[in-house]
Amino acid sequence: YRNLRVALLGGGTVGAQVARLMLEQADEMASRVGASLELVGIAVRDVNAERSVDLPRELFTTDAESLILGADIVIELMGGIEPARSYILLAINSGADVVTANKALLAEHGPELFAAADQVGAQLNYEAAVAGAIPIVRPLRDSLAGDRVKRILGIVNGTTNFILDRMDTEGDTLDEALMMATDLGYAEADPTADIGGYDAAQKAALLASLAFHTPVPLASVYREGITAVTPEQIESARKAGYVVKLLAICERLTDSTGQEGVSARVYPAMVHRSHPLASVHGANNAVFVEAESAGSLMFYGAGAGGVETASAVLGDLVSIARRHVVGGPGFAASNHAAMPILSINTVITRY
Ligand code: NAP
Ligand code: HSE
Repeated sequence: YRNLRVALLGGGTVGAQVARLMLEQADEMASRVGASLELVGIAVRDVNAERSVDLPRELFTTDAESLILGADIVIELMGGIEPARSYILLAINSGADVVTANKALLAEHGPELFAAADQVGAQLNYEAAVAGAIPIVRPLRDSLAGDRVKRILGIVNGTTNFILDRMDTEGDTLDEALMMATDLGYAEADPTADIGGYDAAQKAALLASLAFHTPVPLASVYREGITAVTPEQIESARKAGYVVKLLAICERLTDSTGQEGVSARVYPAMVHRSHPLASVHGANNAVFVEAESAGSLMFYGAGAGGVETASAVLGDLVSIARRHVVGGPGFAASNHAAMPILSINTVITRY
């Protein structure tokens, strides 16, 4: 049985949950991969800080570089541009594969990081960077690669959706709802990224790049946040049968000269209450994809939160780890867990 060494950079809201799940579900994950995934350490700023999750103290270190150099796979969950960028480059150049949830970094430096990974044949997975737990990166990159995506309408920031929802349904102020979103672990370290629409714009750049198979720079994404949305506007929208949602809109368009191109923009929009996006409540996200052959598809679920996002991170980890195991479990073999098949029929009368 092979042992893969996994270094975790960051032990905060998401990182602590990733660490907990790696420790608690080690056997199950090993059977799916065909190798054990050993968490060799967690790089943080302060090894003595109180943590939301009880994790073995000896795993924590401030020496991220040594951790990276001894790892087969590095998971970056520190956030921000530096030192995350340098650490990911160090990991790639020292032969490790990388998982990250860092949309801010990818939206700014994605081309550099993907090129570095391609050059050495390393993998750089980032399912958790867009829409938390929702699988959307791989569906756009792989499942829909044979189709032509025409448009994406996305609620891709959980914090702002939570705030607008509380303002609409509970009459909260923006500040009250933001405080709750922060306490619940949805907001970025600097929540200006959320309410200013920067986080959604980063995700829009990533979604548009994936959907239209072309680099879409962050600077080209039009951005407005929710700070100017008033309770009066929300009330007027409600009376007219609409709900205000911060949307990321990515479209394939043709201009007046017949030139085909791509547009990506983020702003608070009125969504009719009959549209599926209108019923996305709380910190949930949804990505509504309109494709030429597939028609309309909606991807829905938790857009933020530690354990929810950890699910997407671990999916990336398992996917990368499987590629390390030559002759490891293929689909049939990885489906071998000894679970009894029960003959109980439950009747669901209501959804
Ligand atoms: P967080 O709670 O702020 O945690 C950040 C962690 O990184 C902390 O453990 C911190 O150490 C460590 N860290 C930060 N700078 C460091 C440095 N220079 N050297 C060593 N360690 C450093 O952040 P988070 O909410 O878990 O988010 C992590 C990443 O996931 C971000 O890129 C974020 O955008 C992304 N993401 C978050 C969510 C979510 O719902 N929270 C969802 C999707 C994606 P200390 O603990 O010692 O301070
Ligand atoms: N702050 C982000 C949000 C975290 O609220 O959506 C998930 O990317």
